[in-house]
Amino acid sequence: MGVFITFEGPEGSGKSTQARLLYERLQAEGYPVILTREPGGTRIGELIRRILVDLRHTEMAPTTETLLFSAARAQLVSELIRPYLNTGGIVLCDRYADSTFAYQGYGLGRDLDELYAITAVATGGLMPNLTFYLDLDVEVGLARKRAQRERAEAPGASAAHPEWNRLDARDLAYHQRVAAGFAALIRREPERWRRLSALQPIEELAEQIYREVVPLITPVARLGSPV
Ligand code: TYD
Repeated sequence: MGVFITFEGPEGSGKSTQARLLYERLQAEGYPVILTREPGGTRIGELIRRILVDLRHTEMAPTTETLLFSAARAQLVSELIRPYLNTGGIVLCDRYADSTFAYQGYGLGRDLDELYAITAVATGGLMPNLTFYLDLDVEVGLARKRAQRERAEAPGASAAHPEWNRLDARDLAYHQRVAAGFAALIRREPERWRRLSALQPIEELAEQIYREVVPLITPVARLGSPV
Protein backbone atom coordinates (compact mmCIF):
# COMPACT_ATOMS: atom_id res chain seq x y z
CA MET A 1 0.00 0.00 0.00
CA GLY A 2 1.40 3.41 -1.00
CA VAL A 3 0.91 6.85 0.54
CA PHE A 4 -2.20 8.96 0.04
CA ILE A 5 -1.90 12.73 0.60
CA THR A 6 -4.68 15.28 0.10
CA PHE A 7 -4.88 19.09 -0.03
CA GLU A 8 -7.79 21.08 1.34
CA GLY A 9 -8.45 24.74 1.90
CA PRO A 10 -10.83 27.57 1.10
CA GLU A 11 -11.16 29.05 -2.38
CA GLY A 12 -8.05 30.98 -3.39
CA SER A 13 -5.77 29.31 -0.83
CA GLY A 14 -3.32 28.13 -3.49
CA LYS A 15 -3.71 24.43 -2.71
CA SER A 16 -3.66 23.43 -6.39
CA THR A 17 -0.34 25.26 -6.85
CA GLN A 18 1.12 23.56 -3.77
CA ALA A 19 -0.12 20.13 -4.86
CA ARG A 20 1.55 20.65 -8.23
CA LEU A 21 4.85 21.85 -6.70
CA LEU A 22 5.00 18.83 -4.42
CA TYR A 23 4.19 16.55 -7.35
CA GLU A 24 6.99 18.05 -9.47
CA ARG A 25 9.51 17.77 -6.65
CA LEU A 26 8.71 14.16 -5.80
CA GLN A 27 8.74 13.23 -9.46
CA ALA A 28 12.15 14.89 -9.94
CA GLU A 29 13.42 12.88 -6.98
CA GLY A 30 12.36 9.67 -8.68
CA TYR A 31 9.34 8.77 -6.57
CA PRO A 32 6.41 7.01 -8.22
CA VAL A 33 3.77 9.71 -7.81
CA ILE A 34 0.54 10.89 -9.43
CA LEU A 35 -1.43 14.11 -9.00
CA THR A 36 -5.17 14.21 -9.39
CA ARG A 37 -8.09 16.39 -8.37
CA GLU A 38 -11.68 16.36 -7.20
CA PRO A 39 -14.22 16.59 -8.53
CA GLY A 40 -12.64 15.17 -11.66
CA GLY A 41 -9.44 13.26 -12.30
CA THR A 42 -11.06 10.70 -14.60
CA ARG A 43 -12.94 11.05 -17.88
CA ILE A 44 -16.25 10.36 -16.14
CA GLY A 45 -15.34 12.50 -13.13
CA GLU A 46 -14.49 15.50 -15.32
CA LEU A 47 -17.91 15.21 -16.97
CA ILE A 48 -19.55 15.16 -13.53
CA ARG A 49 -17.43 18.20 -12.57
CA ARG A 50 -18.87 20.14 -15.49
CA ILE A 51 -22.40 19.49 -14.22
CA LEU A 52 -21.44 20.50 -10.67
CA VAL A 53 -19.74 23.81 -11.44
CA ASP A 54 -22.08 25.05 -14.18
CA LEU A 55 -23.44 28.46 -13.11
CA ARG A 56 -26.75 27.72 -14.90
CA HIS A 57 -27.54 24.77 -12.62
CA THR A 58 -29.16 26.87 -9.91
CA GLU A 59 -31.93 24.29 -9.36
CA MET A 60 -29.57 21.50 -8.25
CA ALA A 61 -30.88 19.84 -5.06
CA PRO A 62 -28.37 19.41 -2.19
CA THR A 63 -28.81 15.62 -2.34
CA THR A 64 -28.03 15.62 -6.06
CA GLU A 65 -24.94 17.73 -5.42
CA THR A 66 -23.76 15.41 -2.66
CA LEU A 67 -24.29 12.28 -4.72
CA LEU A 68 -22.57 13.76 -7.78
CA PHE A 69 -19.45 14.64 -5.75
CA SER A 70 -19.57 11.13 -4.31
CA ALA A 71 -20.06 9.52 -7.72
CA ALA A 72 -17.02 11.36 -9.12
CA ARG A 73 -15.05 10.26 -6.04
CA ALA A 74 -16.13 6.61 -6.41
CA GLN A 75 -14.88 6.61 -10.00
CA LEU A 76 -11.58 8.27 -9.06
CA VAL A 77 -10.90 5.85 -6.20
CA SER A 78 -11.68 2.75 -8.23
CA GLU A 79 -10.10 3.83 -11.53
CA LEU A 80 -6.99 5.65 -10.32
CA ILE A 81 -6.29 6.05 -6.59
CA ARG A 82 -6.66 2.48 -5.33
CA PRO A 83 -4.83 0.82 -8.23
CA TYR A 84 -1.92 3.27 -7.86
CA LEU A 85 -1.71 2.84 -4.08
CA ASN A 86 -1.73 -0.91 -4.62
CA THR A 87 1.45 -0.58 -6.70
CA GLY A 88 3.08 1.16 -3.72
CA GLY A 89 3.03 4.66 -5.24
CA ILE A 90 2.24 8.11 -3.82
CA VAL A 91 -1.11 9.69 -4.70
CA LEU A 92 -1.58 13.45 -4.30
CA CYS A 93 -5.17 14.65 -4.55
CA ASP A 94 -6.41 18.24 -4.73
CA ARG A 95 -9.50 17.95 -2.45
CA TYR A 96 -11.13 14.71 -1.29
CA ALA A 97 -13.86 13.50 1.07
CA ASP A 98 -13.13 16.19 3.70
CA SER A 99 -14.45 18.73 1.18
CA THR A 100 -17.80 16.92 1.19
CA PHE A 101 -17.94 16.98 4.99
CA ALA A 102 -17.02 20.69 5.05
CA TYR A 103 -18.99 21.99 2.02
CA GLN A 104 -22.08 19.77 1.92
CA GLY A 105 -22.06 18.99 5.65
CA TYR A 106 -21.16 22.19 7.48
CA GLY A 107 -21.83 24.49 4.49
CA LEU A 108 -25.17 23.15 3.23
CA GLY A 109 -26.26 21.60 6.52
CA ARG A 110 -26.44 17.98 5.36
CA ASP A 111 -26.38 15.38 8.11
CA LEU A 112 -22.75 14.44 8.79
CA ASP A 113 -23.38 10.80 9.70
CA GLU A 114 -25.26 10.39 6.43
CA LEU A 115 -22.29 11.93 4.57
CA TYR A 116 -19.86 9.60 6.32
CA ALA A 117 -21.99 6.64 5.24
CA ILE A 118 -22.26 7.80 1.61
CA THR A 119 -18.52 8.50 1.55
CA ALA A 120 -17.70 5.07 2.93
CA VAL A 121 -19.71 3.54 0.07
CA ALA A 122 -18.02 5.78 -2.52
CA THR A 123 -14.46 5.19 -1.29
CA GLY A 124 -14.67 1.75 0.28
CA GLY A 125 -13.42 3.48 3.44
CA LEU A 126 -10.21 4.84 1.90
CA MET A 127 -9.00 7.95 3.75
CA PRO A 128 -5.72 9.88 3.30
CA ASN A 129 -2.60 9.22 5.37
CA LEU A 130 -1.97 12.96 5.53
CA THR A 131 -4.06 16.03 4.72
CA PHE A 132 -2.80 19.60 4.33
CA TYR A 133 -5.11 22.46 5.18
CA LEU A 134 -3.95 25.70 3.62
CA ASP A 135 -5.38 28.20 5.99
CA LEU A 136 -6.62 31.53 4.70
CA ASP A 137 -9.28 33.99 5.75
CA VAL A 138 -12.37 33.29 3.64
CA GLU A 139 -12.79 36.88 2.48
CA VAL A 140 -9.14 37.14 1.46
CA GLY A 141 -9.41 33.86 -0.49
CA LEU A 142 -12.57 34.89 -2.34
CA ALA A 143 -11.01 38.26 -3.18
CA ARG A 144 -7.91 36.47 -4.53
CA LYS A 145 -10.07 34.24 -6.67
CA ARG A 146 -12.13 37.16 -7.99
CA ALA A 147 -8.94 39.00 -8.90
CA GLN A 148 -7.64 35.91 -10.71
CA ARG A 149 -10.90 35.73 -12.63
CA GLU A 150 -10.71 39.38 -13.63
CA ARG A 151 -7.12 38.90 -14.81
CA ALA A 152 -8.19 35.82 -16.76
CA GLU A 153 -11.00 37.76 -18.46
CA ALA A 154 -8.80 40.72 -19.37
CA PRO A 155 -8.00 41.09 -23.08
CA GLY A 156 -5.02 38.97 -24.11
CA ALA A 157 -5.07 36.84 -20.94
CA SER A 158 -4.28 33.13 -21.13
CA ALA A 159 -7.14 30.73 -20.42
CA ALA A 160 -5.22 28.81 -17.78
CA HIS A 161 -6.76 30.62 -14.84
CA PRO A 162 -9.20 29.24 -12.28
CA GLU A 163 -12.86 29.21 -13.16
CA TRP A 164 -15.44 31.17 -11.15
CA ASN A 165 -18.04 28.50 -10.59
CA ARG A 166 -21.49 27.80 -9.14
CA LEU A 167 -19.93 26.79 -5.82
CA ASP A 168 -17.71 29.89 -5.47
CA ALA A 169 -20.73 32.05 -6.17
CA ARG A 170 -22.38 31.06 -2.86
CA ASP A 171 -22.52 33.76 -0.19
CA LEU A 172 -19.87 34.64 2.33
CA ALA A 173 -21.78 33.06 5.23
CA TYR A 174 -21.69 29.73 3.38
CA HIS A 175 -17.92 29.92 2.90
CA GLN A 176 -17.50 30.86 6.57
CA ARG A 177 -19.52 27.81 7.67
CA VAL A 178 -17.27 25.70 5.43
CA ALA A 179 -14.13 27.15 7.06
CA ALA A 180 -15.56 26.48 10.54
CA GLY A 181 -16.35 22.96 9.34
CA PHE A 182 -12.75 22.35 8.30
CA ALA A 183 -11.62 23.61 11.73
CA ALA A 184 -13.94 21.08 13.38
CA LEU A 185 -12.68 18.25 11.16
CA ILE A 186 -9.08 19.14 12.05
CA ARG A 187 -9.91 19.13 15.79
CA ARG A 188 -11.45 15.69 15.41
CA GLU A 189 -8.40 14.09 13.75
CA PRO A 190 -5.37 16.30 14.55
CA GLU A 191 -2.84 13.57 13.75
CA ARG A 192 -3.94 13.33 10.09
CA TRP A 193 -4.03 17.09 9.41
CA ARG A 194 -1.30 19.70 8.94
CA ARG A 195 -2.71 23.21 9.07
CA LEU A 196 -0.36 25.71 7.42
CA SER A 197 -0.77 29.41 6.73
CA ALA A 198 -1.50 30.12 3.06
CA LEU A 199 -0.31 33.71 3.52
CA GLN A 200 3.39 32.89 3.36
CA PRO A 201 5.42 32.99 0.14
CA ILE A 202 4.74 30.07 -2.22
CA GLU A 203 8.28 28.64 -1.96
CA GLU A 204 8.32 28.69 1.85
CA LEU A 205 4.98 26.94 2.05
CA ALA A 206 6.15 24.36 -0.50
CA GLU A 207 9.24 23.68 1.63
CA GLN A 208 7.12 23.20 4.79
CA ILE A 209 4.85 20.80 2.95
CA TYR A 210 7.80 18.85 1.59
CA ARG A 211 9.35 18.53 5.07
CA GLU A 212 6.08 17.13 6.45
CA VAL A 213 5.88 14.59 3.64
CA VAL A 214 9.44 13.24 3.81
CA PRO A 215 9.02 10.93 6.83
CA LEU A 216 5.96 9.37 5.25
CA ILE A 217 7.44 8.66 1.83
CA THR A 218 10.88 7.45 2.93
CA PRO A 219 9.82 3.77 2.67
CA VAL A 220 8.53 4.26 -0.90
CA ALA A 221 10.92 2.71 -3.45
CA ARG A 222 12.18 5.25 -5.97
CA LEU A 223 11.92 4.59 -9.68
CA GLY A 224 15.39 5.76 -10.57
CA SER A 225 18.26 7.70 -9.15
CA PRO A 226 17.42 11.17 -7.84
CA VAL A 227 18.09 14.05 -10.20
P1 TYD B 1 -11.85 23.04 -6.66
O1 TYD B 1 -11.62 22.67 -8.08
O2 TYD B 1 -10.87 22.58 -5.65
O3 TYD B 1 -11.99 24.62 -6.64
P2 TYD B 1 -11.04 25.69 -6.00
O4 TYD B 1 -9.65 25.40 -6.51
O5 TYD B 1 -11.63 26.93 -6.55
O6 TYD B 1 -11.16 25.59 -4.54
O7 TYD B 1 -13.28 22.56 -6.19
C1 TYD B 1 -14.44 22.98 -6.88
C2 TYD B 1 -15.50 23.37 -5.92
O8 TYD B 1 -16.17 22.20 -5.44
C3 TYD B 1 -15.01 24.11 -4.68
O9 TYD B 1 -15.89 25.22 -4.51
C4 TYD B 1 -15.22 23.14 -3.56
C5 TYD B 1 -16.37 22.30 -4.03
N1 TYD B 1 -16.46 20.93 -3.49
C6 TYD B 1 -17.55 20.57 -2.71
O10 TYD B 1 -18.45 21.38 -2.45
N2 TYD B 1 -17.64 19.27 -2.26
C7 TYD B 1 -16.71 18.32 -2.55
O11 TYD B 1 -16.84 17.14 -2.11
C8 TYD B 1 -15.58 18.70 -3.36
C9 TYD B 1 -14.52 17.69 -3.71
C10 TYD B 1 -15.49 20.01 -3.80
